[in-house]
Amino acid sequence: MSSCVLLLPQDSHLGLTVRRLQQMSSSKAIGIDLGTVYSCVGVWKDNRVKIIANEDENRTTPSVVSFSSNGRLIGEAAKRHAIMNPANTVFNAKRLMGRRFDDSEVQADLKLLPFTVFNKGGVPYIRINDRGKPREFSPQEISAMILTKMKRTAENYLGTTINDAVITVPATFSDTRRRAIKDAGTIAGLNFLRLIDESTAAAVAYEFDSRVAGERNVLVLNIGGGTVDVSLLTLEEGTCDVRAVAGNEHLGGEDFNDILVAYFVAEFRRKHDINLSSNARALVRLRMACERAKRTLSTYTETTVEIDSIAEGLDLSLSLTRTRFEELCDHLFRRLLEPVERVLRDSKIDKNNVNEIVLVGGSSRIPRINKLISDFFNGKRTAANMDPDEAIAYGAAVNAAILSGDNPRPRRRQDPLPLDVTPHSLGIETPGGVMTALEDEALTASQQQKDASASIPRFSVANRRRLQEVIDENLKWFEAMRVEFTTRHAKLIAIADSVTQELRLEEDDLD
Ligand SMILES: Nc1ncnc2c1ncn2[C@@H]1O[C@H](COP(=O)(O)OP(=O)(O)OP(=O)(O)O)[C@@H](O)[C@H]1O
Ligand SMILES: [Mg+2]
Repeated sequence: MSSCVLLLPQDSHLGLTVRRLQQMSSSKAIGIDLGTVYSCVGVWKDNRVKIIANEDENRTTPSVVSFSSNGRLIGEAAKRHAIMNPANTVFNAKRLMGRRFDDSEVQADLKLLPFTVFNKGGVPYIRINDRGKPREFSPQEISAMILTKMKRTAENYLGTTINDAVITVPATFSDTRRRAIKDAGTIAGLNFLRLIDESTAAAVAYEFDSRVAGERNVLVLNIGGGTVDVSLLTLEEGTCDVRAVAGNEHLGGEDFNDILVAYFVAEFRRKHDINLSSNARALVRLRMACERAKRTLSTYTETTVEIDSIAEGLDLSLSLTRTRFEELCDHLFRRLLEPVERVLRDSKIDKNNVNEIVLVGGSSRIPRINKLISDFFNGKRTAANMDPDEAIAYGAAVNAAILSGDNPRPRRRQDPLPLDVTPHSLGIETPGGVMTALEDEALTASQQQKDASASIPRFSVANRRRLQEVIDENLKWFEAMRVEFTTRHAKLIAIADSVTQELRLEEDDLD
């Protein structure tokens, strides 16, 4: 088995405190939840988090970009334009970010997207027609347009230019996919303060809002449009230890829509012998109708999907019960439990010792999902006080305020971080698949130097680069941090300096 540096889905145990934030009235750094379907932006202002509404007065903005004859539309206007211009309206770009074109999940998604996605150097690119001219965009560039929109929404509200942001990312996103999100931010002219996991951001919001006394184990489950994110945390007034994170980077509300679209395409074909799947406009209309039906079924037990003149002058009018919807999606709903089981396993916390369950993300409104989670925890009820659409941006805004440059004094080592949750633990996989955790050595700020003996085989150049990135990501807030590992095969010295952001890795004594 080869050795590699892992980004294991488990967080370190750095404290989180909100005390300093309460002394800061406003922040210039924003928090953005870049969602597959909706994005949301928040900022710390007048001693609280303000979720900022867009020009349509909505507090979330569709992650949609449309290229119309009048120019580029982003957000609400783009979504309204989708039916008229399906081939030039791009949505779900986050699902394509940082992926290979021939990934099976990309290939499956492509079948249902009404715009053109093609293979450019092994990665998916989007081709649209921009006022008569064919143009190509990477998914990162499309996401950058959405981030720019969120930045402008914040700038209009605050009346000032925004440079700094914390952006949330699904816990299980790989390095490549995280880098793609960073690239999108850079294209949008944003300076990254940090990427934080979506469910961890929601936990920050929860802790900030709830302030319940005593130590509690809290499970946060974020079920969005394209991804599922789970964090298990131990919260205690002002502190937040992330014990484990897990997720599924390709499971969410869009998959439930896909199933409904495929179901109605089959029903329509059976009834009229017409295949809607090659008709882009029909597919966009059907997808929107399925989305509405799915939402209705979260409140009512039955609905009708009606689209007039969907193809060849024929109407589509079919009923759908909540029970049928649940049957169709049952196999996907059950997969939501996999990352939940995983965090319990990784954290070694028994499910009976989980004190609270917090559900966020738009798809958490589906009653069957709520019941499934509640049943898994032996009938335990989920916490009701979180806004499922805004919690993640809320947590990102809290994080942004604390990390923002409003307090430019360089941190001393003894000066504890006001808020810090590292996105991943550091570790090296040794032969046999055993994870040798580095975080205890690496992230204990008081320790300048530490030897650790482990059987670490030779690092490849690629692994070294990854390790460097991981350490950089995790340690950049520490000043002159030095960690040394002496192993049978390699001596590894990592130095991270929060002031200069320098990091050096050395390897010697290699066989
Ligand atoms: N009442 C509802 N019933 C069922 N599903 C809903 C409801 N409201 C919203 N959704 C679904 O929630 C999803 C959007 O949720 P959310 O905004 O949390 O996702 P996102 O942040 O865009 O995606 P991700 O976090 O996966 O990148 C959509 O698929 C939408 O259909
Ligand atoms: Mg989300």
